[in-house]
Amino acid sequence: MFHHIPDRTQNRMRVLEQIDIADRADGTPRMERLRQIPPETGRFIAILAAAAPVGAVIEVGTSAGYSALWLTLACQTTGRTLTTFEILPEKANLARDTFRAAGVEHLVELVEGDALEHIADIGEVAFCFLDAEKEVYADCYEAVVPNLVPGGLLVADNAINHRHTLQPMIDRALDDPRVDSLVVPIGKGELVCRKL
Ligand SMILES: C[S@@+](CC[C@H](N)C(=O)[O-])C[C@H]1O[C@@H](n2cnc3c(N)ncnc32)[C@H](O)[C@@H]1O
Repeated sequence: MFHHIPDRTQNRMRVLEQIDIADRADGTPRMERLRQIPPETGRFIAILAAAAPVGAVIEVGTSAGYSALWLTLACQTTGRTLTTFEILPEKANLARDTFRAAGVEHLVELVEGDALEHIADIGEVAFCFLDAEKEVYADCYEAVVPNLVPGGLLVADNAINHRHTLQPMIDRALDDPRVDSLVVPIGKGELVCRKL
């Protein structure tokens, strides 16, 4: 997966990494920033998505499509496609540019709108990466977990850097008898839940 990242995907990853670094350095307003995951989190979710059982691969919070590019590596490996949700039209447009530039349009379905209005329609979910506004994490968790197949994975970003805001949802996952869960100290902290 990581030894043969297509040149077009690698080039677009580098462009987005540079934009993200510049955004953080120059004080670009929060809602305009890409706020994307670091590369090590990309590798982490790609490995987990590639190891997930049969079912849909989804993402909540596309931004400009950086994490989605990592997930396309898993989808390419396993012969699947990614469905990714983005609520802001300007971010969805950036993501379309990303998928075109990276040559992965055939691997990604971008759904523009509130993920909460669409998640229930997805059916059986094998892997979900949750990386949206922290206020919607709990509702997304409750919407996705019933649809996770046995062995299916839900990974939620920001479990350490936004721990205070996300603590009720993290506690819910750690106590939830439907899943085995833990917080992994990689990147901004990943809550990983595996359906029993
Ligand atoms: C932290 S950024 C995602 C970064 C992206 N996962 C990456 O690493 O490249 C969060 C994104 O979630 C989007 N978002 C927030 N709430 C959403 C919702 N209810 N449905 C879909 N997208 C949402 C925001 O507009 C924003 O672009």
